[in-house]
Amino acid sequence: MPWDPKQYHKFQTERSTPFFDLLALVGIRPNLKVVDLGCGTGELTRHLVDALPGSDVTGIDSSSQMLGKAAAHASPRLRFEQGDQTHLTGEWDLIFSNAALQWSEDHEELIPRLYQKLLPGGQIAVQVPSNHNHISHQIYRETANEEPFKTVLKDFQRYAPVLSIDQYARLFFECGAEEINVFEKVYAHVLEDSDAVVEWISGTALVPYFERLGEHKAKFVEVLRVKMRRALPASPVFYPFCRILFSARKPK
Ligand SMILES: C[S@@+](CC[C@H](N)C(=O)[O-])C[C@H]1O[C@@H](n2cnc3c(N)ncnc32)[C@H](O)[C@@H]1O
Repeated sequence: MPWDPKQYHKFQTERSTPFFDLLALVGIRPNLKVVDLGCGTGELTRHLVDALPGSDVTGIDSSSQMLGKAAAHASPRLRFEQGDQTHLTGEWDLIFSNAALQWSEDHEELIPRLYQKLLPGGQIAVQVPSNHNHISHQIYRETANEEPFKTVLKDFQRYAPVLSIDQYARLFFECGAEEINVFEKVYAHVLEDSDAVVEWISGTALVPYFERLGEHKAKFVEVLRVKMRRALPASPVFYPFCRILFSARKPK
């Protein structure tokens, strides 16, 4: 998918807060072998390196656009590789992923498979958005179902594969994990107006739609803006954003 680092970073402060909440769940130990799945532009991966003394960190991302920016953050303890987070190989002390696993399907199968890649005593720590019922998502899905977009998109819709918090907890229990910690948090963002909400989703949820819309992208965004203004007329606009954070450890 053609990720746009500039668009994604328009809300850098709001988007980095959950990263630091996730980092706070990580057990700090020296010399860990770490992977950051869906590392994006690498700024936040660098904070992970800084927080873990002597760690050896690999950032994996499928997007050449995002990795193009990440290269500037490489160091002797941080390398970046292009790859698919669902095809993780090797064994790790820490599997970390902030706002990326929601782009891969079938978490019932994926999460236990990632867990198997942990070394004894290793930890998995993940954050995924769980905001898919917000009005902004309803509006772009409804619009994608209207002409001319429906035909251009060939009926494409993407639904988040994110599970409920109790389902993630159960998956880890069934894996035999320890220190299972799963919770959902609302990030109470306040944005300038409804156009800013369209800007926000343009950096993430709309990426696979934009990829397919070609020359119809501008018209699609225009329709979303009109509908979003009607749905969220206040300025500033309250944009409560739900996210699930989970962590578990493999017994020694
Ligand atoms: C919302 S960004 C998050 C980036 C970074 N973790 C952060 O917190 O800023 C999602 C990232 O996941 C990457 N991604 C999506 N699907 C992927 C896959 N199957 N394998 C690897 N990376 C993927 C995208 O390229 C993008 O960089």
